Amino acid sequence: MPATVPHAALLGLGVDRGKRVVPNSEVIEAIDSSDEWIQQRSGIKERRWVGPGQTLETMALAASQRALESADIAAQQLDAVLVATCTHTMQTPALAAKLAHQLGTEGPVAFDISAACAGFSHALGLATDMIRGGTARHVLVVGAELLSAMTSRTDRGTAFIFGDGAGAVVVGPSEVPGIGPVVWGSDGEQYDAIRQSTDWRDVLASESPVMPYIQMDGSTVFRWASFEMAKVAQQTLDRSGLTVDDLDLFIPHQANMRIIDAMARAIKLPDHVRIARDIAEQGNTSAASVPLALARMYEEGTARSGDLALMIAFGAGLSYAAQVVRVP
Ligand code: UT7
Repeated sequence: MPATVPHAALLGLGVDRGKRVVPNSEVIEAIDSSDEWIQQRSGIKERRWVGPGQTLETMALAASQRALESADIAAQQLDAVLVATCTHTMQTPALAAKLAHQLGTEGPVAFDISAACAGFSHALGLATDMIRGGTARHVLVVGAELLSAMTSRTDRGTAFIFGDGAGAVVVGPSEVPGIGPVVWGSDGEQYDAIRQSTDWRDVLASESPVMPYIQMDGSTVFRWASFEMAKVAQQTLDRSGLTVDDLDLFIPHQANMRIIDAMARAIKLPDHVRIARDIAEQGNTSAASVPLALARMYEEGTARSGDLALMIAFGAGLSYAAQVVRVP
C-alpha cells in the first residue's frame, strides 16, 4: 500500500462532450414550450447530446485518457478508478471496471458511485480520503452521463434540461493542501424528488416496455437547492478556513442558471469570483457537470492553473457534496 501523505491535489482534467448540438427549437414542440421560457427559467440555450459513434463508454474513456495526459500520469500508476454515473444501464459489472481495463491499468480498485448529480463530488471526497489514508496514491475520478437516453421527449419538466458528456480528474498526493475537507450529506425525506420513472421490474412486467426516464419535482428541488445548498457552500468555506474573498472560481453543479445565481447571492460572492455557467450551452449533465464546467472556464480563459475554486454538487437522493480545490 502507498504510504500516507499529508494532502491530495488535482493533477489533471479531461472532458468529452456530446458532439450533437441540440438547440431549444428542437425540444420545444413536444412539450408546448418556447425558447424564451426555457432560457428564462433555466438559462439553457442549447444542450449537447451524443453524436454518431459516441456512447457513455466512449465519452468516459476519452475524458479519462485526456485527464491522464494532462496530469502526465500513466494508466499503470492508477491505484483506483471511481466512476460516478446514473445512466450506466448495466446493473453489473461497474463501468469503472471496464474503463480501468480499457485504459490499460494494472488491477486498480474500480467501482461506480450512485449519487446522481453529486456523484463526482462524492468520488472526489472519497479519492482524497483514500490518498491521505494511504490506500491509494493516484485515483482517477470520472463523472459520465448519457442522459439523452433517459430523457422523456414529452415530459415538460425535464425534456429540455439534460445533456451528455464526461469529465475526469486525476487525484494524487501533495505536500500542500490541494483539496479541502468535503462537506456532504443527504436529505432522505425527499429521496424521491428526483427519480427513475419506473422500476425495472415494472418495465419488464409491462406489455409494451419503454425505457424509464428521469423524473423530477422541479420546484421542490429548485427551492431545496437554492436555499439549503447555499448553507452547504458556506459550511464548506468555514471548514476550509476560507472566506468568499479567498476564492477565484465558483463551480456549482449546472442544474439551473437561477439556482447558480441564487447561491452566489446567498453566500455574497464578490465580483472578482468567476462563476461557471456551462449549463447555457451544455445542459445539465448530472455527475459530469462540475468537471465539464471547469473545462469550459479554461477554454474561455476564466480559469487558470492554481486558482482556488469552490465546487458544490447536489441532486437525487437528495444528496450533496462540496469542497474547495486548487484547479490543476
Ligand atoms: O440536477 C439535479 C437537480 N435539479 C435541479 O436542481 C433542477 C431544479 N428545478 C428547476 O430547474 C426548475 O424547477 C425547472 C427549470 C425544472 C422548472 O422551472 P420552474 O420555474 O420551477 O417552473 P414550474 O415547474 O414552477 O412551472 C412554472 C410555470 C407553470 O405554469 P403556471 O402554472 O405558472 O401557469 C408550468 O405549467 O411554467 C409552466 N411550465 C412550462 N412552460 C413552458 C412548466 N414546464 C414548462 C415548460 N415550458 N417546459
